[in-house]
Amino acid sequence: LSQNSEINKRALIVGASSGVGRALASVLAERGFSVTVAAREHRDLSAVANHVSATYGQHAKTLILDLESEFKIDCTLFDSVFITAGVSLAQDDLDQIPTEDLQRHLLNKLTLINYTGPAQILLQAASTFLGRTTPTYIGVCSTIAAPLPRSRNLLYAAAKNALESLVRSLQHKAFDSNLKIQIFRLGYVDSALSYGQKLLFPAKSPEFIAKAMFDASQSSCKRVIYLPGYWRYIVLILKSLPWMIFGRMRF
Ligand SMILES: NC(=O)c1ccc[n+]([C@@H]2O[C@H](COP(=O)([O-])OP(=O)(O)OC[C@H]3O[C@@H](n4cnc5c(N)ncnc54)[C@H](OP(=O)(O)O)[C@@H]3O)[C@@H](O)[C@H]2O)c1
Repeated sequence: LSQNSEINKRALIVGASSGVGRALASVLAERGFSVTVAAREHRDLSAVANHVSATYGQHAKTLILDLESEFKIDCTLFDSVFITAGVSLAQDDLDQIPTEDLQRHLLNKLTLINYTGPAQILLQAASTFLGRTTPTYIGVCSTIAAPLPRSRNLLYAAAKNALESLVRSLQHKAFDSNLKIQIFRLGYVDSALSYGQKLLFPAKSPEFIAKAMFDASQSSCKRVIYLPGYWRYIVLILKSLPWMIFGRMRF
């Protein structure tokens, strides 16, 4: 991303009403970006947009969008797109999903919000940005659960894995172009999404994650970024455990 050119400072954040997306709106506005904040509720988004305008003097727009329903986004209006939306369930595992109907309902919901909706935005943004001669950017929030599928959060992890796979294909397509696409594998974040969950390590603040995402978007050429960085090593160690040991672990 070029910091000097105004044309590269129009950012869309999908999932900006809370947590990482909301914090990212402030980080971007503070650095001179005009931001459009997207999610489902007008009231929550207005509060974010008003805060950004009042604090940083940057114009902020709102975009009402439900990833579970049909939506349209005009990506020609942006130079950077951050997809921070996502939803998980505290106990998304087979024992907790009682009936077939509910199973299908949950599967659809988790797939639409974590994969199908973000995938649609990703494809639209990539096809728009690949035609540009100026630098453009897409950042996508994933999770450490994606490289470490396990019995907890199995539907959530599957959907995020599908999203990562699509991002990797688009990164390949964007090779040698002005479009940079990054995956952020987040560890625990202190937000609504992790509320009430049993966490192995302390959660980081959304502000910490948002700043690190912004810094990476500006200066890192990594395609997959763990946040905080120590998760890369934890995942490596866990992946290298013999199945007889890993299979017994419950986390
Ligand atoms: N929190 C963690 O511990 C953690 C760990 C690993 C990865 N992550 C990932 O990090 C990202 C940010 O998470 P967070 O902690 O900031 O979560 P959060 O505070 O719960 O925020 C999630 C955002 O997604 C939006 N969203 C949910 N359903 C939506 C829908 N149907 N249509 C449009 N927007 C929708 C929410 O907006 P509305 O509900 O207002 O529409 C909200 O703005 C997510 O992709 C998550 O999977 C989080």
